[in-house]
Amino acid sequence: MPSRQKLIFALVVLVIAAITGAGALWLTGSLPRGPIGSGTALVGGPFTLTDQNGKRVTDQDFRGKYMLIFFGFTFCPDVCPSELQVMSAALDQMGSEADKIQPVFITIDPARDTPEAMKVYVSNFHPRLIGLTGSEADIAAVAKAYRVYYAKAKGTENQTDYLMDHSTILYLMGPDGKFVKHFTYGTEAKGLAEALRQAVQQ
Ligand code: NI
Repeated sequence: MPSRQKLIFALVVLVIAAITGAGALWLTGSLPRGPIGSGTALVGGPFTLTDQNGKRVTDQDFRGKYMLIFFGFTFCPDVCPSELQVMSAALDQMGSEADKIQPVFITIDPARDTPEAMKVYVSNFHPRLIGLTGSEADIAAVAKAYRVYYAKAKGTENQTDYLMDHSTILYLMGPDGKFVKHFTYGTEAKGLAEALRQAVQQ
């Protein structure tokens, strides 16, 4: 081969190698995949937690029902109470169709949200709302499985009445425990009821 052709050939080989390398990196998941969209299969998973009556429960206990899950904390001044109200109102609007759905509130502040605290709190919302808490490790594991972010809010870490920053996504999991769809904070009760009705009829 003339030297110019050799050079072009070498360049082509280099470019192919670079593209293949990048592709392999991407395929092996070194690039982050979000909780929504094509990475949906990665949301959710096994958990063992304690309900508001002090009973240990696992994700397996909810098989056969849809789970509508929101993560938060009982001291939350605004987002959690308003989202739990929207969830409750949506379920009420669905009538008997709502029986297919188990509403679940999982705390990301287990230090303060004991089963007793959760029991009082969930009773303010839907009568079938289950409140789940656990050890710091239990909560860290379930939050990781659901890609939920939480941390003490900056500037309040050293106070006893600290606040928590947390993700505000509402998850609908199927009767098989697999992710079905999510709702963002701000979805109104009517729209949520309609979307849930469609999801559970499929
Ligand atoms: Ni909150």
